[in-house]
Amino acid sequence: MNENLSSNELREKFIAYYKEKGHAVLPSAALIPENDPTTLFTGSGMQPLISYLLGEKHPQGTRLVDAQQCFRVNDIEEVGDSRHTTFFEMLGNWSLGDYFKKEQIPWIFGFLVDVVGIDPKRLYVTAFSGDPSIGIPKDETSVEIWTNLFTQKGVTATAVDLGTEENAYIVGMQNGRIFYYGSKNWWSRSGTPETMPVGEPGGPDSEMFYEFPDVDHNKKFGEHCHPQCDCGRFIEIGNSVFMEYKKEGEGVFAKLAHENVDFGGGFERMLQAINDSSDIFLGVDNLKKILDVLEEKSGRKYSDSTAKKSFRVIADHMRAAVFLISNGIAPSNTDRGYVLRRLIRRMVRHCDLIGVEEGFLAPISRIVVDSYVSIRPILSEQSMVILQTINDEEQKFRKTLKSGLNEFGKKVIGAGKKSLNGEESFYFYQSFGFPVEVMRELCQENNITFSEEEFNKEFEKHQKLSRFGTDKKFAGGLADTSEQTTKLHTATHLLHTSLRKVLGEHVGQKGSNITAERLRFDFSHPTKMTTEEIKKVEEIVNEQINRALPVIKEITTPDKAKESGALGFFTEKYGDQVSVYSMGDFSKEICGGPHVQNTSELVSFKILKEEAVSAGIRRIKATVG
Ligand code: SER
Repeated sequence: MNENLSSNELREKFIAYYKEKGHAVLPSAALIPENDPTTLFTGSGMQPLISYLLGEKHPQGTRLVDAQQCFRVNDIEEVGDSRHTTFFEMLGNWSLGDYFKKEQIPWIFGFLVDVVGIDPKRLYVTAFSGDPSIGIPKDETSVEIWTNLFTQKGVTATAVDLGTEENAYIVGMQNGRIFYYGSKNWWSRSGTPETMPVGEPGGPDSEMFYEFPDVDHNKKFGEHCHPQCDCGRFIEIGNSVFMEYKKEGEGVFAKLAHENVDFGGGFERMLQAINDSSDIFLGVDNLKKILDVLEEKSGRKYSDSTAKKSFRVIADHMRAAVFLISNGIAPSNTDRGYVLRRLIRRMVRHCDLIGVEEGFLAPISRIVVDSYVSIRPILSEQSMVILQTINDEEQKFRKTLKSGLNEFGKKVIGAGKKSLNGEESFYFYQSFGFPVEVMRELCQENNITFSEEEFNKEFEKHQKLSRFGTDKKFAGGLADTSEQTTKLHTATHLLHTSLRKVLGEHVGQKGSNITAERLRFDFSHPTKMTTEEIKKVEEIVNEQINRALPVIKEITTPDKAKESGALGFFTEKYGDQVSVYSMGDFSKEICGGPHVQNTSELVSFKILKEEAVSAGIRRIKATVG
C-alpha cells in the first residue's frame, strides 16, 4: 500500500463489513467494568458481553460487532518496545449461538486479505491441538478451513503440530503455515482449562499472526522462532475464540447452551500489519501524531535510540491517561486512581529525559482528544478536565521529583549501592511519591538491582501499619477530651486536608498528639515548607472556620466510607461499621471523634512551628482560638 490506512478508516471498514453480514453495531462499553469484579479495567471485547455468551438473550440479536476501548495494566512494564501498549481498541464480532467456524474463518480472512489488502503470504494461523484429559478434541475443522483458504490464494499451507510452546522453540516452524498448539490456543478470561474457575466459559481459539520479515529472531526467547514467539517477528492480529464450553468442575467441561464466536482483533496491531510497520508507534496514525508533537517540543528525534523509549512511553501513557480520565478516574493512591497516577508521573519523568519542558505535557492531551472525539464525543466536553488533571498531577509530582532525584543521587548512586531493598526503594514512594515504574527505571538506568516484589511487600506492610496508626491515633493522641483539645482535634482534620491541597496528595498523617495548648501533627512530606506554603495552609484552615461548616458524624460501612472518598484505611480491622466525620464539603475522615459541632467554634487557627521529625516526615505545631 502506498498510503497508510488511518484508524478511522480501519474502524469504519471493519464495522461496515460485519454490518453488511447482518451484525448489529454496539457502542464501546466503559473502561470500568460493570458487574465484573475479576479485573480493574475492561481488558477485552468479550468482558462486557459475558452474560450473553453464557446464554442470556442480547437485545440486539445474535450477531454483534464493536470496537471496544481496553486497558491492560499488566503491560505497563512492557511499554517502550516496538509493539506493547497499555490502552488499545479491540475490534470484535460476535456470534451468540448463530454462525460458527465455517463462516467465522473465511469472513475474517476475507476482511484482512480482500478488504484491507494484507498479503496472505505474511499470515500464519494457529488452532487447538486438543486435550484428551478433559475430552476436548483437536480442532481439525478450523485447520481444514484455513488450508482451503490459503490454497485458494495460491499459498502453500502445511499444518504442523507444535504442542507446547517449549517444544515449538525446539522444533521450529518446519515450513508450516498452520500450527497446532495446546493450552496456548485455549481462551478464557482466566487462562487455561486448569486455571479457569468453575463456572467460567472458554474454548479453543484460532489466532492469526502477521510476519515482519525485517525483524530478526532474538534467540533470548528460544532457539527457533515460531508464531507465538515474543521476539516481535510475528504479531498476533486477531483471535477467533470458539466459545462453546463451560468449566463445571476440576477437569470437567460441558458444552454451553450454544456455540458462540468471540472474535477479538487488536486494532492497533491490525493497523500496524496493514501498514506493514514493525513499529506500532509508526504504523498507527493516532500514536504517530503524538510522536510528531513530541519531536517538536523536545527538539529530539524519535529515531534517536536514546530518546525512543521516552517517546513511546509518553505516546502510550498519554492516550491511556486521556481515556482513563474520560472514564471518570482521577489520580489517587489506590486502585484505578493509582494506575492513572503511575501513568502521569512516569510521563513527567520521561518528559524530563527528552527535554519536554514543565507544563508542556498536558496540552499534548489535545491531540488524543482530537483523534478520538469522532468516536467518543464526550472527549470534547471533557478536554478541560483532562488537561487540568494531567497538569495538576504534574505539578504535584514536581513538588517532590527534584528533591527525590537529588536524594537518589546522594543516598543511592553516590553511596555506590548496587541494589535496593524493599524498605529503601519504598522510601522514595513514601517521601517523594515515586511510583513503582519510576523506581524501576531509575534503578535500571543506573544498573541497580530493584525488586518490584519487595517494593510491593513494603507497600502493603506500610498500608497495614498506617491502619494501626489510625486506630491508635485517638486513643493515645488526645490528652483528654476537654473543650480545647476537642477543638484542636477538629483543627487537625482541617489541617490534614489543607496540607494535601497545598503540598499534594502524598501528604499523609504520620502521627498526632494533642494537649490543651496545641496540636502536633506529623505528616509525610520531603522538604521544609516555605513561608508561603505555611501561610496558604493557615489561610485555607481559617477560611473553613469562617465558613462555619457543620461537623457531621455518620455511621456507615467501611466500603461506603471508601466510596464516598473519606480519608482512612479500609480493612476488617474497622469491623462492619465506622464513623465518618465530615466538615461541609471540605473534609471527610474515618475517625473516632470527638469533634466540635461547627468549625466556627475554633475561631481562628495559627501555625506555631514547622520542623523535621525524620527523613521525609515533617511536624506542625498549631493552635486555635
Ligand atoms: N476474547 C478474546 C481476546 O480477548 C477474543 O476477543 O483475545
